[in-house]
Amino acid sequence: MQLVNDRYEIQGIPVLDIAQQFGTPLYVYDADKIVDKINQLRNAFPSVDLKIKFACKALTNVSILKLMRQNGVELDVVSPQELELGLHAGYEGSQITFTPSGVSFDEIETAVAVGSIINLDNLIVLEKFGQRFGGTVPCMIRIKPNVAAGGNAKIMTAHEGSKFGIDIRQREDILRIVNQYGINVVGLHQHTGSDIKEANAFVRAAAVIFNFAKDFPNLQIIDLGGGFKVAYKEGDPTTDMPALGAQLSEAFLALSEQLCRKLQLWFEPGKFLVSESGILLVNANVVKSTPNRTFVGVNSGLNHLIRPMMYDAYHHIVNVSNPVSDQLKTYDVVGYICETDTFATDRQLTEVHENDTLALLNAGAYGFTMSSQYNSRFRPAEVLVYQGKAHIIRQRETMEDILKNQVLLEL
Ligand code: LLP
Repeated sequence: MQLVNDRYEIQGIPVLDIAQQFGTPLYVYDADKIVDKINQLRNAFPSVDLKIKFACKALTNVSILKLMRQNGVELDVVSPQELELGLHAGYEGSQITFTPSGVSFDEIETAVAVGSIINLDNLIVLEKFGQRFGGTVPCMIRIKPNVAAGGNAKIMTAHEGSKFGIDIRQREDILRIVNQYGINVVGLHQHTGSDIKEANAFVRAAAVIFNFAKDFPNLQIIDLGGGFKVAYKEGDPTTDMPALGAQLSEAFLALSEQLCRKLQLWFEPGKFLVSESGILLVNANVVKSTPNRTFVGVNSGLNHLIRPMMYDAYHHIVNVSNPVSDQLKTYDVVGYICETDTFATDRQLTEVHENDTLALLNAGAYGFTMSSQYNSRFRPAEVLVYQGKAHIIRQRETMEDILKNQVLLEL
């Protein structure tokens, strides 16, 4: 979204027109921004054989998945349902990696059946995999490198206390099981966490994986997960992608040389690819003054964007209906859920009037996918702006969606 001639636009379309045409609350994604981010990532790693796997838990709309596919990005999924969505969007099973955490073996068999490659994340499942498939099905192993990094404790995944992956200190156990069953390990995986700004954290985690790589004669893939930090507010530090690219590529190429093998480097970002593409458009239902603060109550809440309440995440907010004004006022922007669902406290906005449309920025990742029907409210509709046109990609829910699967007993 850009401010052009005093109005907010996406690909030349006034954002207010989009809000009017499709109603609010509404998630709007800019396809150009997503493509731009894909290119940024590719350009950071020009010298290695790079594969990007979109961690689609960040945004699973099938039209977004199709856009990823159109741009040569494959998928990382964490459930059979995400896998189905990927297939529905036109991916081959073999283009989808399944990176589950503590799931039943049935789910792993389902993914193997469609040709997906699995990131095995514990010793028990590794052993079951060996017993069931021996060396007939290639697989990858998720390692926990014991590197603590991430925007906050809730989104760190590779520190010592984390539930994810197989602790690198269990490397001997891994090798014993792999050798016992002749398991065909073609890749090693790690994902450090989310919102990681320090290139160094990626490099340290990668070093653990690189060091273990030589124990696997069939290894072709090093998957370093996602977690690149985007700026949620002006001046926010971000992962320096060109610097990270240069540092990691050098170490990665050295590893390839050492192993005398051409390896592929995979990443599976979520936020980096889609966060900045998305906004959540909401309407001001009420502007409520109290002796010490003024609340803007909007037609949305933690049921639509839970990140501020769950992680104290900052989402920049602009008043789309009043794009330019010298006079800023201080507001608390709050939701309509019967909980304290505060989007922003003491936020400076251009003056807000009832029925103004506000945009919460950087809402493309973990926005819709973490939404719910709490308070029996509908989830937002979704729109994708693609080639200069706004397309509905998810209809607004209706009462039927809320009643669906409920059973009214004969009492
Ligand atoms: N790969 C694996 C195995 C993951 O678990 C995740 C995210 C990713 C890749 C992508 O991470 P990203 O590039 O999006 O940082 N709901 C939280 C983020 C949770 C991330 C969970 N795993 C938030 O809204 O900040």
